[in-house]
Amino acid sequence: MKKQGSDSNPAPVNPALPEPLKDLKIKYTKIFINNEWHDSVSGKKFAVFNPATEEKICDIEEGDKADVDKAVKAARKAFELGSTWRTMDASERGRLLNKLADLIERDRLILATMESIDGGKLFSTAYLMDLGACIRTLRYCAGWADKNHGRTMPMDGNFFTFTRHEPIGVCGQIIPWNFPLVMFVWKIAPALCCGNTVVVKPAEQTPLSALYMGSLIKEAGFPPGVVNIVPGFGPTAGAAISHHMDIDKVAFTGSTEVGKLIKEAAGKSNLKRVTLELGGKSPMVIFADADLDSAVEYAHIGLFYHQGQCCIAASRIFVEEPIYDEFVRRSIERAKKYNLGNPLMPGVQQGPQIDKEQFEKILELIESGKKEGAKLECGGGPWGNKGYFIQPTVFSNVTDDMRIAKEEIFGPVQQIMKFKTTEEVIRRANNTSYGLAAAVFTKDVDKAMTFTSALQAGTVWVNCYSAMSAQCPFGGFKMSGNGREMGEYGLHEYTEVKTVTIKIPQKNS
Ligand code: NAI
Ligand code: MG
Repeated sequence: MKKQGSDSNPAPVNPALPEPLKDLKIKYTKIFINNEWHDSVSGKKFAVFNPATEEKICDIEEGDKADVDKAVKAARKAFELGSTWRTMDASERGRLLNKLADLIERDRLILATMESIDGGKLFSTAYLMDLGACIRTLRYCAGWADKNHGRTMPMDGNFFTFTRHEPIGVCGQIIPWNFPLVMFVWKIAPALCCGNTVVVKPAEQTPLSALYMGSLIKEAGFPPGVVNIVPGFGPTAGAAISHHMDIDKVAFTGSTEVGKLIKEAAGKSNLKRVTLELGGKSPMVIFADADLDSAVEYAHIGLFYHQGQCCIAASRIFVEEPIYDEFVRRSIERAKKYNLGNPLMPGVQQGPQIDKEQFEKILELIESGKKEGAKLECGGGPWGNKGYFIQPTVFSNVTDDMRIAKEEIFGPVQQIMKFKTTEEVIRRANNTSYGLAAAVFTKDVDKAMTFTSALQAGTVWVNCYSAMSAQCPFGGFKMSGNGREMGEYGLHEYTEVKTVTIKIPQKNS
């Protein structure tokens, strides 16, 4: 007899960590349109590199406007009324998403190894965190596929009125390199669950896992044209998506600078719907009554996770005066414990930055911190003689006017500031154009509640940080973005609401 519940969730929540694959072969290097592999129209290719070794991994077909046009045509055809996708039961869309999650579970080791080689992500993080998040997200959205329904309204007059939650249409999705696979799934899963078709452009630094996903999408049985993947560069392939007249919505994750360009392109073309998940300069406020060990650890992980390359990085730590010196002392001790090295190796805790451009940007910001008078407590320079490694860096005595306190660094560089009063720290925490995430550490419930309402951010954590999951909406206030991803709110961003009104004949009318 089958054990009860044994088939409900076959993936163990915390699987044992295997060794990365020794000899990973890259099979998929072409443009994925209509469930087929295409060469680029221009004949161009681009190289991808391993940021830990600076060695070339392979060449990839370089998509451009002409390839985006082909992909959009395929996506439009797949979306047409009467197509296999449009006539498919919503529950069947859910089954396909679950099937895709099964295939990712099967190929978890391949994908985690690929993610580590292509993006410099610790293999352990890729395998346990990123792949776990992908699987859970797909299953979460699979569950929603047949539950995203409308309502009936008591409309004035003799009418029967109801709403339909319809897919928007063809969605262009442009993703970054810091979480290549998670971002791919965060984009496609809600879009497909609601019945849209998609054209995805992975980041030029990290196209490998997205292309591998193309093969799994085909194997899962999605109809041709539902998911199309065009690797290429931002100003060419990316801009072709944001300017396209036959794309109905664009979803973007990346820099605030490019987010502005995307919104402008939407305005100049067909006013396509736009959702943006952009940068941050997230504050963490630590009161003297907080559990100090826990606060130091959360502040540390909140910044140094994945080499600091996270949109939610806790890059402004405000510490109350009485515990400031002790907090700084413990933070330095924690940052100095790091083993840097090849992210595939066991025991390595910090890998390389994604590329030379980011590496140089971070080092330049570190120099600005030194020049502007912050106290460099540890780190402060590159590490090793190959690969884009940067020493874990801690700055104390940081003031709000310094560039390191204002600009998104996106690297392993921690800023610790001092505060005296609640009013002062609320004002300073909110004094930024960003508003992605924020946190407060205190044992005082009143203080915690004050901050949950006062902090201007899409996510506020109390006595924790970086806690995220598919059920919860994520996105930014202010210049950190528009709209929300994930959770039920995230589905609304992939849905058009149609109001249908039917006249009810009355006896004497
Ligand atoms: P980016 O915003 O240039 O790249 C992200 C994606 O946008 C990539 O797929 C890229 O090809 C595409 N893109 C670039 N220019 C485009 C354009 N004109 N039209 C359409 N798509 C375009 O980010 P980049 O240059 O990789 O990093 C710069 C900074 O952005 C980082 O230092 C960091 O501060 C921030 N960033 C934030 C991320 C987040 O998770 N919110 C992720 C990556 C970067
Ligand atoms: Mg850029």
